[in-house]
Amino acid sequence: MRHASDTSQGQSLATIDKERRIGAALSVSMRIASRALGGKGYTFWHFDANAGSGWNEKINTPGSPLVFWQVADVCLSGFKPAAFFCDLDVDAMRRLQSRLRSIPGSASASYLLPGDNQEGLEVFAECIRRSEKTKYAMGSVVIDPNGYYYRNPKGIGAPIYALQWFCREFPRIDIVLNLNIRTYQLQASQGHNVLPPREVLYGLNRKHWLVAQAHVSTGRFLLAVGRNFETGDHKNLQLYRHDSAEGEYILNMADGKRQGVLDGVSKL
Ligand SMILES: C[S@@+](CC[C@H](N)C(=O)[O-])C[C@H]1O[C@@H](n2cnc3c(N)ncnc32)[C@H](O)[C@@H]1O
Repeated sequence: MRHASDTSQGQSLATIDKERRIGAALSVSMRIASRALGGKGYTFWHFDANAGSGWNEKINTPGSPLVFWQVADVCLSGFKPAAFFCDLDVDAMRRLQSRLRSIPGSASASYLLPGDNQEGLEVFAECIRRSEKTKYAMGSVVIDPNGYYYRNPKGIGAPIYALQWFCREFPRIDIVLNLNIRTYQLQASQGHNVLPPREVLYGLNRKHWLVAQAHVSTGRFLLAVGRNFETGDHKNLQLYRHDSAEGEYILNMADGKRQGVLDGVSKL
């Protein structure tokens, strides 16, 4: 008998689950923005640092850029979306461009930035600066590098340096991180210079974090959403406040704390 976790079906379920969680995180950001300031002509700014082609070709599932547009269609009201999609892979960007053409309204409000996500974040920031006050700009940034919060010497990975200034300058833009925790633990055990997940989150100038975990065949992932607006848990989406018992458990597991330290915290 084949098990879902060790087959391509397992990978497809894992990817669907990842996209569902990214979609859930974005839906909360969009609903908050719509409720607070919808109808006043503002822009909802979105940057996807590791956009890919818009489609998980191996398993025929939408990727994060298409998820953004699907969620915006349902959850964003009274805001003009402006979505910036960045990827080093120029061929993936071409495929994304043609996919976006088939979604009504998305092509004219999507900006493709083929290249390094640190430079892409500069372009994104400059477009916001020219249009409104940075401290009030609302939106989201998605970081989905496949690995951990890390850039290798060739620049593959997350925009870890640019995010430092970006998060200070744009306090109302929510940060969505999808990080491979197995990669972190391997890197940490080999003495690589990587910050533990809690330190990554708490260094990004966001007061409120919701966290979720996923165990999949390709790794153990932490999904974290950072905001400066209080939202409470979203237990139905398996997103927990970082300071709840469940959130503490997820972050302790991600940080690699031994089970003994976790005694007394309910397992999810
Ligand atoms: C896990 S995939 C992204 C999947 C996509 N978010 C989705 O949901 O379908 C990671 C992507 O990051 C891109 N990437 C890696 N390093 C990058 C960098 N420094 N700048 C821009 N893109 C990068 C890779 O080319 C790859 O397409």
